[in-house]
Amino acid sequence: MFNLLILSLCWILVSSEKVRYDNFTLYNVQPATERHFEFIKSLHKNSEILDFWSIPSTIRDDVSVVSPPQSRKEFEQELARRGIKYDIVLENIQQAFDEQTQTRSKRDVDNGLYWTNYQTIDEIYEWFEYLAKNYSSVVTIIHAGQSHEGRNITGVKISRQSGRRAIFIDGGQVGADWLSPTVVTYIINQLAMGDDPEARAASEEFEWHIFPILNPDGHQFSQDSVRLWMKNRRPTSRTTFGVDLTKNWNSQWGVSGGSYNPADSNYIGLGPFSEPETRSVSRYIETIGSNLAGLLSFRAFGQRLLIPFAHSSDPMYNYQDMVTIGRRAMGSLAVKYNTQYLVGTSRNVHDGSTGSIADWVKHRFNPPVVATYQLRDRTWGYTLPVNQVLPSCEETFDSLMAILREAKFINVL
Ligand SMILES: *[C@@H]1O[C@H](CO)[C@@H](O)[C@H](O)[C@H]1NC(C)=O
Ligand SMILES: *[C@@H]1O[C@H](CO)[C@@H](O)[C@H](O)[C@H]1NC(C)=O
Ligand SMILES: *[C@@H]1O[C@H](CO)[C@@H](O)[C@H](O)[C@H]1NC(C)=O
Repeated sequence: MFNLLILSLCWILVSSEKVRYDNFTLYNVQPATERHFEFIKSLHKNSEILDFWSIPSTIRDDVSVVSPPQSRKEFEQELARRGIKYDIVLENIQQAFDEQTQTRSKRDVDNGLYWTNYQTIDEIYEWFEYLAKNYSSVVTIIHAGQSHEGRNITGVKISRQSGRRAIFIDGGQVGADWLSPTVVTYIINQLAMGDDPEARAASEEFEWHIFPILNPDGHQFSQDSVRLWMKNRRPTSRTTFGVDLTKNWNSQWGVSGGSYNPADSNYIGLGPFSEPETRSVSRYIETIGSNLAGLLSFRAFGQRLLIPFAHSSDPMYNYQDMVTIGRRAMGSLAVKYNTQYLVGTSRNVHDGSTGSIADWVKHRFNPPVVATYQLRDRTWGYTLPVNQVLPSCEETFDSLMAILREAKFINVL
């Protein structure tokens, strides 16, 4: 072994023009034995050619992997030789990425956003201006500092009455994740318009602090240059850029799931809050921390609701209550489209990565309702077709209302 390990990373490092993924193939790999799992783990650790979208974490948890065309044959042979099952999800992911952007429609005349496609940061921030003007008694623009490249980390506060407890919502920590920002703006739209009685009540009962894109540089870079860019864009050495913001928060930082190698897409940085984005957002949260009733963090993908904490499978704080709330809420999520989520600690149902915003907030302020959504889906990942965007928004919003309902029902809120 073998070419999978040694080729250069040139297609990742090019930054001035748009990187294409022609004939890059997306695999769903299904390790079934300890041996399979060890092999997949060693590939994840050592291969600079294969791009892993999920970290191999347990036997029988499928892994999403992309191979460039020149390594396909060898990769498939290595898997076959070991009896590891795999499916080819997409022969050519570039085609899927093209479809995501070609169908993009412009905003309509009365300043509504569309939720039938992935949104851009410019569209979202412009829409915020419109909301703040048009619904000035309910919506205020809020700022949580700036990114490394000087982009604003902008959100909205939705509040109809003063003196309410706060709920914080974030999305867009991973550049390539275009789904969570769009789901988060859908939530904003429902709460701000208040057409649905339950949404209206939620916007009266709580003060919502909502930031759809915590990693604006990474998001923009994914839109403009490298579709599969995960991290922020701060230079970390002469040749490397970026830190994985989802693992840079001050809770069990570096304990598991992250890499200490700046070249890796899951590089955790030099320490907790080493990045301007996590640092300034954490300062913002400090200002509302004592008033927090909840935090919900949204990201693609995997269909999991993660309950703190990632470093342990033990039920900590109000874990049992949160699992009860989460399971019922994921039942509500499944009503419209039968999308199935698992609920539990990251260690039990996902990859056990530590250093998340949710774990940090739970540990620091212990608000009653804290969870991380890994949104749709289980196989397409970042190539999720646009016709799944609106359904993702709708079902997720249904589950958010259910979380509030169930939390009140068992006296957690
Ligand atoms: C992708 O593969 C197809 C079929 O093998 C081939 O015709 C095409 O030239 C390839 N595209 C690129 C850009 O390599
Ligand atoms: C908000 O905008 C809509 C249409 O763009 C308009 O019908 C409505 O009257 C506006 N509301 C306020 C409070 O300005
Ligand atoms: C960032 O926000 C500030 C304050 O609202 C605004 O004046 C500035 O123009 C914004 N910068 C960018 C790059 O959008």
